[in-house]
Amino acid sequence: MPSPHGYIYGVQDAEIERLAMQHRLWADDCLRHCKRAGFRPAQTLLDLGCGPGFAAWDLAELVGPKGQIIAIEREAKYADFFRQELSLQHRRPRAPIDLRITSAQTPGLDASSLDGAYARWFFTFIPDLGEVLRPLQQALRVNAPLVILDYFNWAALAWGPRQETLPQIREGVTAAFDSFGADGCVGQALPSALTAAGFELVDMRPRVHMARPQDALWSWPQVWLEGFLPTVIEAGHLPADIFPRWKQEWAHNAQDPAGYFMSPPQVELIARRKRTGGQG
Ligand SMILES: C[S@@+](CC[C@H](N)C(=O)[O-])C[C@H]1O[C@@H](n2cnc3c(N)ncnc32)[C@H](O)[C@@H]1O
Repeated sequence: MPSPHGYIYGVQDAEIERLAMQHRLWADDCLRHCKRAGFRPAQTLLDLGCGPGFAAWDLAELVGPKGQIIAIEREAKYADFFRQELSLQHRRPRAPIDLRITSAQTPGLDASSLDGAYARWFFTFIPDLGEVLRPLQQALRVNAPLVILDYFNWAALAWGPRQETLPQIREGVTAAFDSFGADGCVGQALPSALTAAGFELVDMRPRVHMARPQDALWSWPQVWLEGFLPTVIEAGHLPADIFPRWKQEWAHNAQDPAGYFMSPPQVELIARRKRTGGQG
């Protein structure tokens, strides 16, 4: 199991590949959400917990050469990957990207320097939301939007028609999240954490997708479970036989004309910095 102080899914090459695939599958949602919040050319935007940088690239193209992206990531391996990508010649015009290896709790950002911030699948891994939201609030200009996509109820994911392993997997993964201080229901806590930190809620929408075996999104839970279930088993939150049982169930569903997957409900949030600070 990765250390409780590191990224729960580890920083191996396979996780970079998974994050790349995940971004491709969710990139349309990301852009729609950012445009709805008013992100536009020539702005300075922050990508918080940018990982290997896949969303930051899209944001850099959105704000264009007159804009700027600041990308914050704690894991050096992801930052190294991103830096290497940035050093290659890419032909599409984009904003410069200022990549900083630091913790979001101590971001070192200038006050009122950002036109907006983006955080996707990041707050799940933040045990104390206020520790990140307070410095972020100070770094945004008044009224600047913070755009968040995160889990509202991870354990509500579902697949079918066979579901023998599903209840056990829900429990085991939730126990592993707990032991890491991760919260698969963070979307439920974010609205009050945001208002307490001096943000005003602008928009909240559910985001749920369903996939059938022939859809691209079918690979998303499969690759995630293939990568993460062994970690959960190793940490003692699930028995070893769950892995082959789940594989069999999943392969069966993939061949079944009634096979389906429903994503865990997530929330798309837009908040903006209020003029005054947080409560107290
Ligand atoms: C699930 S990944 C998502 C990456 C990226 N946001 C995306 O949408 O592809 C979560 C990322 O948040 C980073 N992270 C977690 N806690 C952090 C912290 N306190 N400060 C900075 N980065 C953090 C992890 O290292 C990881 O790269």
